[in-house]
Amino acid sequence: MEKIIISGGNPLRGTVEISGSKNAALPIIAATLLTSEPCTIRGVPNLSDIQFMCDILRWLSVKVTHHKTDGVIEIQAQHPLGVAPYELVRKMRASVCLLGPLLARLHNCKVSLPGGCVIGDRPIDQHLKGLKRLGADVLVENGYVHARCNELTGSDVFMGGRFGSTVLGTANVMMAAVLAKGTTWIEGAACEPEIEDLAIFLIKMGAKIKGAGSHILEIEGVEVLNGADHKVITDRIEAGTFMTAAAITNGDIEIKGAHAEHLCAVRDKLEESGVTVERANGTIRVKGNGDLKPVDVITMPYPGFPTDMQAQMSAVMTVTPGISVITEKVFPNRFMHISEMARLGADVSIEGSSAIVKGVKHLSGAPVMACDLRASAGLVLAGLCADGETEVNRIYHVDRGYERIDQKLRHLGAKIERVSE
Ligand code: UD1
Repeated sequence: MEKIIISGGNPLRGTVEISGSKNAALPIIAATLLTSEPCTIRGVPNLSDIQFMCDILRWLSVKVTHHKTDGVIEIQAQHPLGVAPYELVRKMRASVCLLGPLLARLHNCKVSLPGGCVIGDRPIDQHLKGLKRLGADVLVENGYVHARCNELTGSDVFMGGRFGSTVLGTANVMMAAVLAKGTTWIEGAACEPEIEDLAIFLIKMGAKIKGAGSHILEIEGVEVLNGADHKVITDRIEAGTFMTAAAITNGDIEIKGAHAEHLCAVRDKLEESGVTVERANGTIRVKGNGDLKPVDVITMPYPGFPTDMQAQMSAVMTVTPGISVITEKVFPNRFMHISEMARLGADVSIEGSSAIVKGVKHLSGAPVMACDLRASAGLVLAGLCADGETEVNRIYHVDRGYERIDQKLRHLGAKIERVSE
């Protein structure tokens, strides 16, 4: 197993290039199951979650060629199988988004339930409700979702659950609806940029979708889809993580390739905390001013402050003088990183779904344990500003979602190395 060792205290300076979006690439890879024709996906980050998805497709007898160094995946699903087993699905929750395309293509599929997750309860009731509205019989049995239909029929589907719209639920219903008979309206659809990117890919495949990126999608089903060539958007969460890295180290980072318009809520909160954020020529420049101010943040579905940036923003708050509050409205129990940050000297108490953060003058390095992808990014950020040495264990969590994070940080001047145990 590998770990990351950081000697904190260096302000980060320089330029960093953002990779393609994992969360856009995963459902787009699943969408290639909707056609027998070849598809090419570009700008795909080389991450373990992407490997998992490719492995599942190969298991389904799909031809997958992954040119890792070029970020290109060629996929052709001529005769896909319809069963995605637990051994593969349990490695990555996002594999639940195979359900919609497999059902639409084969009319009969079994996808294992993905199982538990440290960031909290993650039901898929909204996904199943949506597929049922399109006419599928859905049975949950022996740890599998078994979905069948004679044909899928367009309908109106509401995708807003207790915690707002579901991202992968919207992806699943959209991918099923593109081959359904008649028109589907998805109301309360997730409007995250990754869902818009999926819609753009599906439109390239010949799907008829109106309203991509909004809360109401109108989808007129077609009989067949063709192959398509698509470059995925860049990763707004990776970009946001480097924005917070500049803030926490009082650095000055130019972030290249990021879509600034996908990061308005993060920019807004960083500016409120006294950091300078400038947008120019496809780059975002984030500059610390030596003095952070406390802020209150509430995570929400897009365009609100992303839950996937909560741990990183919490890290910034731990060294911001005064009291900051961060409230989770998407995954109310997503605070596993807080007790690890306390090992570095952070002063945080949890009240319900809020973390009350009293800023301390300095964090001090210690061994900590990563427990999920974004939590581990938060711990790396805390390590970057802590006095002395921080050892972040179980770094495979970071590798699920950040391409070469240690190299990119080193390039910005961080003293960081990856070591094998
Ligand atoms: C996606 C992202 C994840 C991000 C999350 C929220 C991918 C691969 N993952 O996950 O990084 O943190 O969006 O922005 O894109 N819910 C239900 N019933 C359902 C589905 C969801 O109650 O059927 C709840 C969830 O428990 C959660 C909230 O809705 O409280 C949002 O979850 P959802 O948007 O579905 O997250 P994912 O799509 O799994």
